[in-house]
Amino acid sequence: MTDGARAGDAVASVSAADVVRRVVANLELVVRAPRATLELCVLGLLAEGHLIIEDFPGVGKTMLAKSLARSLHLSFSRLQFTPDLLPTDVTGVNVFNQKANEFEFKPGPVFGNILLVDEINRASPKTQSALLEAMQESQVTIDGTTYALELPFLVVATQNPIEYEGTYPLPEAQLDRFTARLSLGYPPLAEEARMLAEQTTAPPLERLGRVAGRADVLAAIETARAVYVEESVGEYVVRLLRHTRSSSRLALGASPRAGIALLRMAKARAVTAGRDFVLPEDVQAVAVPVLSHRLILGPEARATGLAGEEAVEEALGETPVPA
Ligand SMILES: Nc1ncnc2c1ncn2[C@@H]1O[C@H](COP(=O)(O)OP(=O)(O)OP(=O)(O)O)[C@@H](O)[C@H]1O
Ligand SMILES: [Mg+2]
Repeated sequence: MTDGARAGDAVASVSAADVVRRVVANLELVVRAPRATLELCVLGLLAEGHLIIEDFPGVGKTMLAKSLARSLHLSFSRLQFTPDLLPTDVTGVNVFNQKANEFEFKPGPVFGNILLVDEINRASPKTQSALLEAMQESQVTIDGTTYALELPFLVVATQNPIEYEGTYPLPEAQLDRFTARLSLGYPPLAEEARMLAEQTTAPPLERLGRVAGRADVLAAIETARAVYVEESVGEYVVRLLRHTRSSSRLALGASPRAGIALLRMAKARAVTAGRDFVLPEDVQAVAVPVLSHRLILGPEARATGLAGEEAVEEALGETPVPA
């Protein structure tokens, strides 16, 4: 692809499977994290979803979101959530223009393609819900006027798993709005050493090139939407959800919204494999990151240290797989 084609970004020229392959390969150049984790981020984008990263400070979350935007020539913005942040700081606000003698809309950070929201649990519930609404609706309404967000729109929210003091933890009902939860973790020793060496000489993010453009992403999203789901596979997804709903160890199982997210991610994965139909293995491959954060454990399960991940594994293990 020439630079000219990139600048215009008008027509898609990269196949959906190639978009994923190229972006994952590009992310691998800068972010030291398991390939599956990086792939999950790109699948989230194709599945029109949003991601929540639960991890410690300084493990590459910002780096990941920035590299994703850079790889695809998408706009990037970052918001640090704080208790005094207002809903309009997220969505945008009408400001009075003295010259024109009228109000004009000043779009907020949700009008970018990739929005990194750091410490989502530190803003007030009101501000959190303004963001979650924008995520859900892909639009915002300010003073009675509705504005459509620019697509693609991917929120990458972060949450620190240890520091809960003075925070407003997202209730499970809100976590349900996130397509997948992931964590980066610490890289293996040799990788981390290499990363330190790179960062202190020539940080690779500065040299990271684009591998596809916005039009390619939008086309890939359409391709993922069009992926065929056979009846038995659709039912398989519902059976998995039902397994979590009937589990005596869970206080709350997976919602229909969780099922939609699961199927969307499975479709995006099928695209990555160059298929135009979903296999049960696509569903299985994404089930843990898509479902685990949405389940509420019962008191007994909590006491025995069961985690959402294990409940999903159990559902996968006990639900018959369609042939
Ligand atoms: N897994 C990793 N791969 C590549 N670089 C990393 C990784 N972890 C940390 N770094 C480097 O460490 C520095 C901090 O990373 P980054 O800002 O992305 O962390 P963060 O998770 O966003 O931290 P915070 O929670 O404080 O915002 C960057 O220079 C980044 O390049
Ligand atoms: Mg950061």
